[in-house]
Amino acid sequence: MVHTMGCTGVSKIFQGDGISTYALEDINVKFDEGEFVAIVGPSGSGKSTLLSLIGTLDLPSSGEIMYGNEPINNRRPKQLADFRFENIGFIFQQFHLLPTLTTLENVMAPLFSRKVSYNKKERAESLLKDVGLEDKLHSLPSQLSGGQQQRVAIARALVHEPSWLLADEPTGNLDTHTGEIIFEKLSSLNKEKGCGVIFVTHDPDLAARANRIVEMKNGKITRDSRGEVHA
Ligand SMILES: Nc1ncnc2c1ncn2[C@@H]1O[C@H](COP(=O)(O)OP(=O)(O)OP(=O)(O)O)[C@@H](O)[C@H]1O
Ligand SMILES: [Mg+2]
Repeated sequence: MVHTMGCTGVSKIFQGDGISTYALEDINVKFDEGEFVAIVGPSGSGKSTLLSLIGTLDLPSSGEIMYGNEPINNRRPKQLADFRFENIGFIFQQFHLLPTLTTLENVMAPLFSRKVSYNKKERAESLLKDVGLEDKLHSLPSQLSGGQQQRVAIARALVHEPSWLLADEPTGNLDTHTGEIIFEKLSSLNKEKGCGVIFVTHDPDLAARANRIVEMKNGKITRDSRGEVHA
């Protein structure tokens, strides 16, 4: 079942070398199921940090990550892993492919040790075909271009059919044409399967195609178009 999700009073402070960085400060935001949201803002404004907290890949310093009406950030690691498997697909800004696994194996990796009702290999191959990588199934990440690695990462994020797709600059490394194909893929997932999509972008044209734009600056949300009327 798909739920709303969001943050209540979330702050994130990174400590290191005697310096504290306030990456997020008292963030309150809610996303309804099936939304298509762009997060924009200058470099260092906290976009990736926000996405990784919502995706439960990192914990807030204070505040709560909410799923439905329930805080989830105090669950145990195993429960959080199950939660992510059921609900979250994550496309990282830096891909994070496993270097010793092939394209096909990378896409199947989230399914290792999971019982599923479908054929894992067929599902992975079909997604890789969708992103135009059917001829690279057995290549290692080091043998792929940046844009191709990005597309492997996208297929991997979709393989378990998550209810939310969190994408950190999903088209940032792609040429205009490939970027458009990927964006269309995210858009059709949203429209046809009701998959909620929250994506970070530096491209104003892409952001304008979302149903909602959240703007960040210095760790805060400075504008949220939620509720504004769109054409
Ligand atoms: N692991 C970390 N340790 C220390 N500081 C960090 C860490 N991760 C992020 N930061 C700091 O937190 C702030 C927000 O970083 P974040 O990566 O969320 O920015 P961003 O908006 O995604 O930027 P970009 O557009 O460049 O990707 C920055 O000042 C950054 O230096
Ligand atoms: Mg970032």
